Amino acid sequence: MKLTLKIWRQKNHDAKGELKTYPIDGIEGDMSFLEMLDVLNEGLINNGEEPVVFDHDCREGICGSCSLQINGEPHGPDRLITTCQLHMRSFKDGDTIVIEPFRANAFPVIKDLVVDRSAFDRIQQAGGYVSVNTSGNTVDANSIPVNKHDADESFNAATCIGCGACVAACKNASAMLFTSAKISQFALLPQGKIEATERALNMVKQMDEEGFGNCSNTGACEIECPKGITLVNIARMNREYVSASLEAPLSNAWSIDDESSLFD
Ligand code: SF4
Ligand code: FES
Repeated sequence: MKLTLKIWRQKNHDAKGELKTYPIDGIEGDMSFLEMLDVLNEGLINNGEEPVVFDHDCREGICGSCSLQINGEPHGPDRLITTCQLHMRSFKDGDTIVIEPFRANAFPVIKDLVVDRSAFDRIQQAGGYVSVNTSGNTVDANSIPVNKHDADESFNAATCIGCGACVAACKNASAMLFTSAKISQFALLPQGKIEATERALNMVKQMDEEGFGNCSNTGACEIECPKGITLVNIARMNREYVSASLEAPLSNAWSIDDESSLFD
């Protein structure tokens, strides 16, 4: 296949970026999208030009680092896959493909197609864990019975790979699908109930502080999520947040700002 690539090039966070055009030839349908970019970079390096910088690690849909906006869609035109699982057979000879970084104020561009998604790490650090007693009296997790439906739902939420496609797809750059998956994963399990109040309050607070937008129930996040995380998780997070706000001491109580964030 012969293709025309229009790729976002930006030297660093402060530099002005622009789309640059690269013609490319000899692309096979069985190549992955990232292999196609590898071919482009080999050519650029051989010509003494700077290669295009893009994020990747596992190349098998697990790590969530290969986040690219392809022809305006996070992870490209196919559903339930990441950019590294997208194959060139999804395009045709002569196509023009526009490749950009994920766009959101909370995901500043570092260089070319790489954005800083450490805002997600900070949301996770605010409560996306369970504290375990490691004094020698630890109860084996398998000895606590968990209802099958809840275990399955918790597992589904835990499949979120933190790629950020939900934010990039959302017109408000909202991170509610990500945050709700991380809250749901624990909210459904007995082990997660102990810290449920602080978890819901702290993770939502951190999400707001990072500058993500509000949810307006558009549902683009669910459509573009490569792991099939559903809006049901956002509804669950809202319930967790409301009940946490009613239980929390007055200093943490629900403010007008928090309310608008959750129910816009
Ligand atoms: S909810 Fe889906 S789109 Fe959002 S970060 Fe998790 S896996 Fe990616
Ligand atoms: S490189 Fe890890 S999910 Fe794509």
